[in-house]
Amino acid sequence: MYKHTNDAQLADLRAAVLASSRYRTVCPQLVEVLGKQELAKRRNLKEAIKATKNKLHQIGGAYLDLTLAENSALSLATLREAVHADDHIALRAACRQLMSYHASTRERLPILDEFYTRIFAELGPVHSVLDLACGLNPLALPWMPLAPTCMYYAYDIYQQITDLLDSWLQLIGNKGSAHLCDIVQACPTHAVDVALLLKTLPCLEQIDKQSGPQLLSTLQAGLLVVSFPVHSLGGRSKGMSSYYEEHFRTLVEETPWHVRRRLEFATELVFILAR
Ligand SMILES: C[S@@+](CC[C@H](N)C(=O)[O-])C[C@H]1O[C@@H](n2cnc3c(N)ncnc32)[C@H](O)[C@@H]1O
Repeated sequence: MYKHTNDAQLADLRAAVLASSRYRTVCPQLVEVLGKQELAKRRNLKEAIKATKNKLHQIGGAYLDLTLAENSALSLATLREAVHADDHIALRAACRQLMSYHASTRERLPILDEFYTRIFAELGPVHSVLDLACGLNPLALPWMPLAPTCMYYAYDIYQQITDLLDSWLQLIGNKGSAHLCDIVQACPTHAVDVALLLKTLPCLEQIDKQSGPQLLSTLQAGLLVVSFPVHSLGGRSKGMSSYYEEHFRTLVEETPWHVRRRLEFATELVFILAR
């Protein structure tokens, strides 16, 4: 009886969250995990729905500009035009425009010219990349010094993002793909040269405190690039990067990885890890 009520409540919560315009395309398995946690903590269904939406806001919704949905089709058409015309300038301009619809890539735009040049200079030849909790970062591919044959795999919790990115990868002839996935519940395990985990560990730890070490122990990557923001979304920065760095270095000790290189950028702190 008790279980039946719980299952029914969880189904109601899931339906209510997925019916809201902000979370319509979010990964249903993640809604269920967060919903279960909140139903166990809150007094009633209404409170649990509100708390689940708050959590989703903190880990993803706060970053995503609602106008992305309206602009995706138009932006894809612009990208397509630029690819067919082999116009690199127009292509980069369209990618920049699209990346501005996600707070995380928007913040990276001013450092984009140096960001991937400096990171990939440390990595050696790269034939495959896993971009975990990618946001719109795969649109930075034109800035990455990668061979056209490099396979790029991207994962996020928003279907609207992964659909757009899958079309983008096909458009540029990349043999990789983009997938809807809660990487805390289902960490991708196929072998790649490099996995990117950019500005994401603090979000994942809000779902499950152990997600960092678990993810790092499960990934089958030759090298790992992990980064942290230097400022909060609200612009505050006091002590943030030193807090993240200290916490991260302790976390790495529980895993098979060690920090090989540390790179500082104006808005981001990057660690390159090897086994
Ligand atoms: C701070 S943003 C970073 C985005 C991107 N890595 C970058 O650096 O531009 C965090 C991203 O993690 C995604 N995300 C949050 N929880 C996730 C999960 N459990 N599985 C996959 N992606 C997740 C969010 O949708 C959001 O795009």
